[in-house]
Amino acid sequence: MESQDQEFNRFVGKIKSYTTIDLSQYKEAQMKRRLTTLRIKKGFSSFDAYFEAIVKDKQLLYEFLDRMTINVSEFWRNPNRWQVLEERILPQLTAVNRRLRVWSAACSTGEEPYTLAMILQGHGLLRDASLLATDLDEGVLEKAQQGVYLDRSIRDVPPVQLEKNFIKEGEVFRVNPELKRYVRFQKQNLLTDRFENNFDLIVCRNVMIYFTEEAKHELYQKFSAALRPGGILFVGSTEQIFSPNRYGMELADTFFYRKL
Ligand SMILES: C[S@@+](CC[C@H](N)C(=O)[O-])C[C@H]1O[C@@H](n2cnc3c(N)ncnc32)[C@H](O)[C@@H]1O
Repeated sequence: MESQDQEFNRFVGKIKSYTTIDLSQYKEAQMKRRLTTLRIKKGFSSFDAYFEAIVKDKQLLYEFLDRMTINVSEFWRNPNRWQVLEERILPQLTAVNRRLRVWSAACSTGEEPYTLAMILQGHGLLRDASLLATDLDEGVLEKAQQGVYLDRSIRDVPPVQLEKNFIKEGEVFRVNPELKRYVRFQKQNLLTDRFENNFDLIVCRNVMIYFTEEAKHELYQKFSAALRPGGILFVGSTEQIFSPNRYGMELADTFFYRKL
């Protein structure tokens, strides 16, 4: 008799050939729990049946992607870290070069790249900057491009920025359309796709926690290779890199790593 693990592993294989997304690079227990709950909620008694249905019904595919990707984000998420970026890291970067190449990797619905755009704008750096924002999930990228948010994602926006860069429309807030011109949104899978390089700053927060140790290890190497010497990798508040030296980086500040 086949075990549940074998069936789940077969599902992982089929999803990989169908979508190119490799679920085996995400922490297994977490991922399995999330997807099992969703499968049962959708009324499928096995992962085989669930996969067949996903192939036939785009809506099921989107729900599956939604559940596996976890898209929660906020403007100025962990505000004190953004303060460090603005007050300590940015001056170091601009001392070398004022035309910054910046990348928000796994940008979700856009709060993070727009936060970056506003900070760069505040320092007169936006016009000359190149600001890339990528995510695996096309649905979130579409929302990012629309730039419309509920009040829970704007609670940490500094009042001056709220005034300057958001338009309240009924219950929602629309981000200043001007800012959108400066952000290049692109679909990208961090685990399989090639990276651009020569970045001054890479922001990758609250996604690496879902990856296995091996996947993280490879990703740190790819990020390091994508930074210029002196460039900075900014990670999430539970995502410290324990031996940055292994990847040719050093600690620049808590949750910030500098390429050597
Ligand atoms: C919790 S959100 C983080 C958003 C933002 N960085 C922040 O910290 O607020 C995680 C994002 O990672 C994306 N993601 C998950 N796996 C990915 C992968 N392999 N490649 C690129 N993005 C991925 C998801 O689609 C989701 O939008």
